[in-house]
Amino acid sequence: MFLIKAFNYLFGKWLFSHKAHLSYSLKYSGRRRDLDINYLDYIRLATLELVANEIQKKNLPGNVAEVGVYKGKFAKYINQYFPSRKLYLFDTFEGFNEKDIQTEKELGLNDANQDFSNTSVDKVLHLMPFPKQCIIKKGFFPDTAAGIEDSFVFVSLDTDLYEPIYQGLIYFYPRMEKGGYIFVHDVNNDSYKGAAKAVAKFSEEQGLSFVPLPDSCGSVVFIKD
Ligand SMILES: C[S@@+](CC[C@H](N)C(=O)[O-])C[C@H]1O[C@@H](n2cnc3c(N)ncnc32)[C@H](O)[C@@H]1O
Repeated sequence: MFLIKAFNYLFGKWLFSHKAHLSYSLKYSGRRRDLDINYLDYIRLATLELVANEIQKKNLPGNVAEVGVYKGKFAKYINQYFPSRKLYLFDTFEGFNEKDIQTEKELGLNDANQDFSNTSVDKVLHLMPFPKQCIIKKGFFPDTAAGIEDSFVFVSLDTDLYEPIYQGLIYFYPRMEKGGYIFVHDVNNDSYKGAAKAVAKFSEEQGLSFVPLPDSCGSVVFIKD
């Protein structure tokens, strides 16, 4: 995994320095792209940046969220690209919940023994460029979503496990603004088979399509009709 990440990082840096990632048509937009080449997954970050630009260009309403924040490494860029929107941050901040681990094991998906407890709300907020825009929802998702009356234009679901990803799609999709985006991480990740299962179930039940990305661990993107 480390070697793949290192390769991805170095190759991404090379492509970036040779401006090989995107067509010249971007020149017409007259904007400077805002990308941190130190982020390990160029494709994931660059897709977020392009999507954020589309949302701002069209002036779409709605707030933004991430479920599965851990240390806030991806949430930091969501906050950066959406500085005027509220960012809901959902996490136990103590690692996987026992109920989800049980489900994962019962479905034969994973033993879910990765430890994500070495983080804290303070550390995450410290990393955010606009911490005042952040609304922390600490605890077990989806319970922590109860009572929120808001709509969303961008959501990242990155909890690794089947149940919170499926519940995230069920909760957020109806609350998305038209033209809004949901990113689901780990859909092409042998270590976390639950993400692919959740996406397949949700898309089949709802008759929805998605765009698969060739990023590290494989994300998919749903766009609200
Ligand atoms: C892979 S990490 C997130 C990584 C982060 N998005 C990033 O890009 O750096 C997964 C996180 O999901 C959280 N998580 C998993 N299931 C959860 C649930 N049911 N409720 C709240 N948080 C959950 C874990 O605590 C963990 O911090």
